[in-house]
Amino acid sequence: ETESISQLIDRLAAVVPDYPEPGISFKDLTPVFADAQGFKRIVDAIVDPFRGTFDVIAGLEARGFILASAAAYATGTGMLTIRKKGKLPRETFAESYQLEYGEATLEVHCDDVPTGTRVLILDDVLATGGTLGASTKLVERAGGIVVGIGVVLELEDLGGRGRLSGRHVHSLSAV
Ligand code: PRP
Repeated sequence: ETESISQLIDRLAAVVPDYPEPGISFKDLTPVFADAQGFKRIVDAIVDPFRGTFDVIAGLEARGFILASAAAYATGTGMLTIRKKGKLPRETFAESYQLEYGEATLEVHCDDVPTGTRVLILDDVLATGGTLGASTKLVERAGGIVVGIGVVLELEDLGGRGRLSGRHVHSLSAV
């Protein structure tokens, strides 16, 4: 009778064939975010295993912001903003990572992470793990302690979990 969290994600997510390229089937989570019960359940479930272990929740631009801001509000913590290169106005730490073609860089403001801050990192999807791998390095370079990583969807074939070895990675669903 009670629907599991992965069943709920399966029911609400929209599968888009041949996106972003032919042969790829894209699982779009925006309908999960748009559903009142769906959004509440994923936000509660994504932080659940980490309750009491973090001081702040980091969100990764752009879709990680949706989860991290709601989870921070729900748990009474602050939210740490990790952005793509060139968006933050003050002194930053930066960490680059490989994309399929080229590279990308993430940044965080140096003084947004007091030394020893325990950080939970949230994002919507774990694919190759490049984004979350760079984010963990970034948080640690800034002086934080990464207590865990939470994602709504893990694309297991892309091996992202292997790039995050030693980390506590909690995914609500997997394909
Ligand atoms: C997507 C997704 C994750 C990342 C996962 O973001 O939201 O952040 O890719 O991929 P990876 O595990 O292979 O690094 P995208 O770069 O599309 O940015 P956006 O959220 O700003 O659209």
